[in-house]
Amino acid sequence: MAETAQSGRVPEAAEGLWMVLAANRPTAAEHAERMIGLAGRLADHLGIEGDERGELLTAARFHDIGECFLPSGLAERAVAFSESERDAMRSHAELGAEALSEAGMNVQVVDAVRAHHERWDGGGYPLGLRGERIPRAARILHVCEAWDAMRRHRVWAELITTDEALEEIQTCAGSQFDPEVARAAVDCFAADAT
Ligand SMILES: [Fe+2]
Repeated sequence: MAETAQSGRVPEAAEGLWMVLAANRPTAAEHAERMIGLAGRLADHLGIEGDERGELLTAARFHDIGECFLPSGLAERAVAFSESERDAMRSHAELGAEALSEAGMNVQVVDAVRAHHERWDGGGYPLGLRGERIPRAARILHVCEAWDAMRRHRVWAELITTDEALEEIQTCAGSQFDPEVARAAVDCFAADAT
């Protein structure tokens, strides 16, 4: 967690939420810590520094904090969501943003958390934002989250090789992902291929 120390002020109430997540969903906390590392690598590659970098890394840590408010067991499920469960699952982006806002978190971090499931083509959630209307930090988190899911998810990671995951990022550049961020991710994460 060394990176988060540089990532700006985190309100005490947000630290409290983090402790709830870490206690109840240790795998989500581990995912968040990996996201800090991935987002930091992309920030370096894209030349993002200063406050913007700090806000990105804080958003990486807190992006799924809304999962604290989901019915227990839902976020751990790998498959077979009903429509209402899928809607509940999707609500984590808005719930997390609201909770962080109430906790006094910086508005850029809040906006990035809310938008981390938005897609470049407008097909994401919760608002269906498109292109550069999606905060850059959220566009970066979206790619990092896809990468972490493909490499570390307990089901998918066994089905997809690193090369296939890189190809998937490339294929979805311009539809799911910001093309510039996707290019940076492919450049950065190709080094992880063995
Ligand atoms: Fe999420």
